[in-house]
Amino acid sequence: MNSIVVGLQWGDEGKGKIVQHLSKSHDWVVRFSGGPNAGHTIYYNGQKFIHHLIPSGTKNNKLFISRGTLVDLEVLNDEIKSMERIFPEIRNNIYISAWCRVISPIEKDLDIKIEELKGSNAVGTTKRGIGPTVADDAHRAGLRIFDFFSEEKLRRKLTTLALISKPLIGDVDVDNILESLLKEFKKIKVRVKEASINGSVLFEATQAIMLDPMYGTYPYVTSTSCLPSSAPYFSGLFNKNPEVFGVFKAYTTRVGSGPFPTEIFDEESEKLRKAGGEFGSTTGRSRRCGWIDLPLLKYACDVANVDHLIMTKADVLNGFDRIGVCQEYEGEVLPYALESARPKVDYVKGWKNLQDIAFKDFLSVIERIVKRKVEYISFGPKEEDIKPI
Ligand code: IMP
Ligand code: MG
Repeated sequence: MNSIVVGLQWGDEGKGKIVQHLSKSHDWVVRFSGGPNAGHTIYYNGQKFIHHLIPSGTKNNKLFISRGTLVDLEVLNDEIKSMERIFPEIRNNIYISAWCRVISPIEKDLDIKIEELKGSNAVGTTKRGIGPTVADDAHRAGLRIFDFFSEEKLRRKLTTLALISKPLIGDVDVDNILESLLKEFKKIKVRVKEASINGSVLFEATQAIMLDPMYGTYPYVTSTSCLPSSAPYFSGLFNKNPEVFGVFKAYTTRVGSGPFPTEIFDEESEKLRKAGGEFGSTTGRSRRCGWIDLPLLKYACDVANVDHLIMTKADVLNGFDRIGVCQEYEGEVLPYALESARPKVDYVKGWKNLQDIAFKDFLSVIERIVKRKVEYISFGPKEEDIKPI
């Protein structure tokens, strides 16, 4: 069986841990989207590790960074180095597609500059160069890993990129950038090959449906597709039609700007942030917190065509007196018009633990609105903290 793990809210639903759990029954774990903007937190033998580019599998998996992934070579090398302390064999298990787009320092500077120019309309990006790298690729001026096999070609492309971006970021030192990129490339050069895959595949999607550039809360979105249906195209694995595991938190969080109809601001929000450890794993930013938004969750389930639904962090709400639930909106639910949306939030009774009848009632409300069964509950950060229901 082939599978995909996808986030159904605005990211940070705990995909990494679910991927780690499911990786045990798959041969390959494959990334096809996002880049170092992603931060998937997992625990290996009690040791916390944040994956940015390497798929969240274990030493028994082959790991493929396929063509849709945006690669920052320095971040990748740092990640390989720190993972080697836990899995010495990791280096030999990694395959990197030559088609991957490469983020250069030019795009990272552009990301910062464009956000600055947008002023109060800034997206609140992770500043990892994601948007500008996709834009440069659309201009057919971006760097791909296959360009790195010829220093001459790479120099020409970098020179063009420098010219295109000059009006925004001024002059850049092409020689210096070339040298540092090549130095990083040399370390992964032998890993650059298209994986020839036999066995089962687990796709690890990045970000989440509401951050998808075409189906999310545009313009407050990321720049690569977050949908399961894009996995075959962006990985090149056309015959690995996956079953979809959709992951959502028992409440909602969001980092960066953009509409968040069920956001809360008071002490309850602070309590939620503390209890859930809701601080960004890539940027360290405080995450915005709010209640579960079922009309949006239903929309995301439909867009992702979810087969299996997984709730994470249910335990974080243990001990809350009351828990907010948005079951409907006054008017239509349109992801691009959420700023003026009017969600109706009701409160259900809190629970002490997940055996409590109040938790079961909460589950029933969710299942009724999203029209799917919640099949698994994750109740802690460790790989084994998950059970079917
Ligand atoms: P970018 O992907 O860095 O361009 O950021 C665009 C938006 O997506 C911002 O609101 C980010 O905070 C958000 N974002 C990007 N990656 C993640 C992620 O892995 N988790 C949560 N939010 C993310
Ligand atoms: Mg994350």
